[in-house]
Amino acid sequence: MIPQSFILDLLNRIDIVDAIDRYIPLRKAGANFIACCPFHNEKTPSFTVSQSKQFYHCFGCGVHGNAISFLMEYNGLSFTDAVSQLAEYAGMQMPVPMNLPDPNGSSGSSEEFEQNRASISTQDLHQALQVAAQFYKSQLKLSEKAIFYLKKRGLSGKTAARFGIGYAPAGWQGLSAVFPDYKSEQTRSILQQVGLVIVDEDKQYDRFRDRIMFPIVNLKGYIIGFGGRVIEQGEPKYLNSPETVLFGKGRELYHLFLARRAIREVDRVIVVEGYMDVIALSQHGIDYVVATLGTAITSFQIQRLMRQTDNIIFCFDGDNAGRKAAWRALENSLEFLSDNKYLSFLFLPEGEDPDSYVSRNGKELFEQQLKLATPLSEFMFKELCLDIDLQTSEGRARLIHQTKPLLQQIKAPALVSILLKKLEELSGISQNQVVGLMQLKPLLKKANTQQDHVARQLITPYRRIIMMLLCRPSYLEKLDRELLVECDETKQEQGALKALVDLLDKNLHLTENPLTHSILTYFNDTPYKTLLESIESEVLKWDDMIDLEVEFMGAQQLLQQVQRNKRMTELHSKSLAQLTDEEKRELQQLTSF
Ligand code: UTP
Ligand code: MN
Repeated sequence: MIPQSFILDLLNRIDIVDAIDRYIPLRKAGANFIACCPFHNEKTPSFTVSQSKQFYHCFGCGVHGNAISFLMEYNGLSFTDAVSQLAEYAGMQMPVPMNLPDPNGSSGSSEEFEQNRASISTQDLHQALQVAAQFYKSQLKLSEKAIFYLKKRGLSGKTAARFGIGYAPAGWQGLSAVFPDYKSEQTRSILQQVGLVIVDEDKQYDRFRDRIMFPIVNLKGYIIGFGGRVIEQGEPKYLNSPETVLFGKGRELYHLFLARRAIREVDRVIVVEGYMDVIALSQHGIDYVVATLGTAITSFQIQRLMRQTDNIIFCFDGDNAGRKAAWRALENSLEFLSDNKYLSFLFLPEGEDPDSYVSRNGKELFEQQLKLATPLSEFMFKELCLDIDLQTSEGRARLIHQTKPLLQQIKAPALVSILLKKLEELSGISQNQVVGLMQLKPLLKKANTQQDHVARQLITPYRRIIMMLLCRPSYLEKLDRELLVECDETKQEQGALKALVDLLDKNLHLTENPLTHSILTYFNDTPYKTLLESIESEVLKWDDMIDLEVEFMGAQQLLQQVQRNKRMTELHSKSLAQLTDEEKRELQQLTSF
């Protein structure tokens, strides 16, 4: 919808180094700028920004893009929002969609002028929510009963301030105190559009009355809606803003804006169900927590979280509703799993929620519980087997049948192979047969013909290691041989890597001097020839900026992480009592990574 010319103009006008530097400080290194990658956890910088070419690339995790995609990824913005934010920064006026009056149009008649004045901007909507939030906050100070209630629930004044908690007074038109023209057409329309008032024929009244108010903030820090809780008893317990142009329950996550720093610091996030759960955890020093807004978590929200961290822990009540919510979370995340993501589920004892648990037991015990959360793979089979009798053939067949649609969605090769192995144990049907029955796509990704950077993000770490070895056989020295022990030779890429290493081991002279010809000349009789050739050809598309060594180490680290996660899943699938001391130590070590 935004004209291409505008986007090009914008990209020409801004400097990517400036744009990124506002979020993460960049350091000059040779021709480029570098920083620790904001999209994966690392201690030495491999996130590189090219000023001359105006793009970024991370040698550790492979993200790649321009200033617009950086803002989208980093702030979780839509394309349009990212463009508009950059435009604002560059002092450029966003193009006005054709069907709206141009707010700067000055040549119009007085009628047009009226129309322009009546047109409501996003800024007006934000402003109204901001004014309302201020009002609710000031009203909280005046309401003894609201203060008493919050104190009774253990909230400190500091926490209340941090979360901007307020109180909507009991009258029908409380907001008219801060919107003097509450009933004017323009103000009514604004208040209605943001969900603060309800207009019913000729009546107009506040949606939120006599409730504790929790402002909901988006990733830019703007208030976009509210949750309102009755004091003590009443129905509904929580009333939320309706869906508006600014507010979508399936898009936003409560507290994500403030939690971002903490999430990145500890590289994990807890997802809970309630506002009060977030607030209580935060008050107890666990700030890496967000909540959904009264609905099951959506794929959109899961993707948003995955941009912030690889570790997501869903913490739900131990009751039926909690397990259902957890299952929905599992279903909605399958498609986006990759082998470096670690999703787990923590169910609190019946009758407890995160708020009550942490208030009673404190931060340490809660964090200890987090470590014992059930990994996704285990939770999946636990739930699937609940109403299946595995003693019967029919039961085992049913298990395969019910697992099929789930497995088909997963694109993470290591996870799929772990799940297949479990399925084999449970059903007694061999992995190969299961793969056939499920018509799973071969896990190997086809050689990519797509655009360079799109393709690069899809390249698996195995493939990248092969690439580096093909370019620089001398890197054999730097290869972590442990990684090969775990190699599954039934997988093309892993088999190819092993074969390549074998070849190099046997022909060490190849690794000594820079090669002037392709190493593939030595690879005549191998089933992997085609694969290796296609991998080698990708190398040609690389530009001179790529630092092979960093790329190699990055891919290797990613694989090590994958194997640690795999091992963790294995250990987690045993009960604590089954673990030997050695295994417990190992688990502790793995968890502290
Ligand atoms: P809970 O009822 O579990 O909330 O609902 P809670 O946070 O434990 O509430 P307290 O401790 O009694 O204050 C979880 C979430 O579900 C949504 C809200 O977002 C709430 O935070 N919800 C709940 C509603 O939208 N409407 C309701 O009537 C109840
Ligand atoms: Mn509660």
